[in-house]
Amino acid sequence: MKIAIAGKGGVGKTTISGTICRVIAKQGEKVLAIDGDPNPNLSVVLGIDKDKPPQKSLSTDIIERVEEGESWKFQVKMPFDEIIDTYGQDAPDGVTLLIVGKPEQAGTGCMCGSHTVVRELIHSALTSEFNAAMVVDTEASLEHMKRGTSQHVDRMYTVLEPYYRSLEAAGRFADMARDLGIKEVAAIANKVRNEEEADAIKEYCKKINLPIAVMVPFDENISAADLKGMSIMDFDENSSAVKAIEKFVKSLI
Ligand SMILES: Nc1ncnc2c1ncn2[C@@H]1O[C@H](COP(=O)(O)OP(=O)(O)OP(=O)(O)O)[C@@H](O)[C@H]1O
Ligand SMILES: [Mg+2]
Repeated sequence: MKIAIAGKGGVGKTTISGTICRVIAKQGEKVLAIDGDPNPNLSVVLGIDKDKPPQKSLSTDIIERVEEGESWKFQVKMPFDEIIDTYGQDAPDGVTLLIVGKPEQAGTGCMCGSHTVVRELIHSALTSEFNAAMVVDTEASLEHMKRGTSQHVDRMYTVLEPYYRSLEAAGRFADMARDLGIKEVAAIANKVRNEEEADAIKEYCKKINLPIAVMVPFDENISAADLKGMSIMDFDENSSAVKAIEKFVKSLI
């Protein structure tokens, strides 16, 4: 299972990605969490000690351009297991984190290199023996969709919040995901406070033909955990948002 979590800024992509990883791992599955955001913060949501020095992030050096007859392609230089050994970071419940999107330093050009690294990394993982559920947390822009960063995942979930611009953006992410040929594309509705909001989301998603995988309620405990720089799984794993995500994960496995 290779899934990507996309959506507009601040909708809850990282919170949902990290919690999905922890919930899957708790069920005994091997999980690889990929932080594909150039401003990475998945590690805190996964529950890695925030005072721990960060692991070396993957750089564009790990991919190479290979000539193929008249054309060429990118490919990852190292075997996937070696990538995990060198760059992987241990997170609670046995999750492994790979940080990919972080630029080496300011002023070194555009992000296309890191988008290519994420894309080729997922491709390499798919063709490797490394058998783990993989969850990619993406950045809040359509740019990574244009560059096909998540092209090789089998499911993409576009996270949305109950307000019009977020719903509209989710529709755009979903269209691009389908254009990339991703087999399963659905919405994760997040921060839903009441029936009225749930109904508005259902109505909009029905109109644009976007299935809703799960409705995650607005949960004060998530804000409280965030304030402390903790994973909701370590703060209160019986919280309502976690319960909704657990139900969703059950439907996946
Ligand atoms: N279900 C929820 N209930 C309450 N607050 C939530 C919920 N989900 C996320 N949040 C809060 O929303 C804010 C944004 O969450 P998060 O960082 O996960 O979003 P993001 O989409 O990854 O943002 P970015 O676009 O910056 O990467 C955080 O303050 C988080 O605590
Ligand atoms: Mg994020």
